Amino acid sequence: MSIDRAAVDWAAVRAEFPLLQREVHGKPLVYLDSANTGQKPAAVIDATDDFYRRHNANVSRAVHALGSEATEAYEAARGKLARHLNVRADELVLTSGTTFAINLAAYSWALPRLEPGDAILVSRMEHHANIVPWQLVAERTGATIKVADITPDGVLDLDALEAAMTGEVRLLAVTHVSNVLGTVNPVREICRMARKRGIVTVVDGSQALPHMAVDVAAIGCDFYALTGHKMCGPTGTGALWARREHLQARPPFLGGGEMSRQVSFGGTPFNAPPHRFEAGTPNIAGHIGLGAAVDYLDALGMDNIAAREQELLAHLDEEMGKVEGLRVIGKAPGKAAVVSFLLDGAHGHDLATLLDLEGVAVRSGHHCAHPLMAYYGVPATCRASLAFYNTHEEIDAFIAALRKVRKLLA
Ligand code: ALA
Repeated sequence: MSIDRAAVDWAAVRAEFPLLQREVHGKPLVYLDSANTGQKPAAVIDATDDFYRRHNANVSRAVHALGSEATEAYEAARGKLARHLNVRADELVLTSGTTFAINLAAYSWALPRLEPGDAILVSRMEHHANIVPWQLVAERTGATIKVADITPDGVLDLDALEAAMTGEVRLLAVTHVSNVLGTVNPVREICRMARKRGIVTVVDGSQALPHMAVDVAAIGCDFYALTGHKMCGPTGTGALWARREHLQARPPFLGGGEMSRQVSFGGTPFNAPPHRFEAGTPNIAGHIGLGAAVDYLDALGMDNIAAREQELLAHLDEEMGKVEGLRVIGKAPGKAAVVSFLLDGAHGHDLATLLDLEGVAVRSGHHCAHPLMAYYGVPATCRASLAFYNTHEEIDAFIAALRKVRKLLA
């Protein structure tokens, strides 16, 4: 049950994030790098701490009390995440994050299937984790990579995308939300277009889940990859959701304990999904923390979070619009609270370093999206990314710091 929007006390919510109370270089921290990694509420920190203090044991192996407690808590976390995404828990493979999840789809689904003459379609706005695994698969199978373009505003060109869905395309890999542009892609429509043509879809949800309610079943994709650390969970957590038929038909990606039923030198029958894809000891404490993060987000309400962030984004956009010499990259309507920008005469890293001295944390660089930087003809940008725990006062502090730095660099 989530809290009614009008009833959310955002100052009290912010106070639940211990790290946000600290100072940097003698100034109150203004953390605007949540697209890189999100901060953690005490409930998440406490859940992982409690696991190590009271329940630590390996999962699915030990019959002793701690072993059962650990297994129950780990599987409960899978269940919470599955409900949050509106999917079945036995279709959700827990991974170390999106990168592992996409590689899992690439190596266990695409590698055994693709052949010369096949193509993989990706969008221009993909992050490296949704480009490089496909290039590696293409190299090994003889498939080719096709790129669907965007408009200068950073909107995926749906006509071009549909036109690119030609007969040889077997797989489409697309991000739900761009980590650089903030663009929210209409993944439901995109997956419908692909499905009609028999194209398998892989959606990268790592930048979507922190900002909005995501109903994976309604999207209609084949695979949905996510990371936990951007949605208030611990680092080293995440998942790959896959349609049941894909999971059942796929060989394991990694061999080891837990993925096999009975090992003999004559052969090893595999465990059922999702455990078939979780060889070795997983990140138990991390995923229990991710379960706590899901509880936390659900209690706040993803719609409340989305509305709060849009309100903060409107303020940020308005104030950035008043700073001379500043250019925003990515102007898609309805974008998420991620703003990439350039300041005349300043390199992104210099700008980020000087902002840091004012207590403001923004990311600078290529954001692991070289092809997108090349499209805009820039080596790097600065990026301010918001979360619901940011405040209007922080936005004002950021703008004041930006103006000060601009003068220094002039
Ligand atoms: N962590 C990466 C980012 O900052 C993906 O966007």
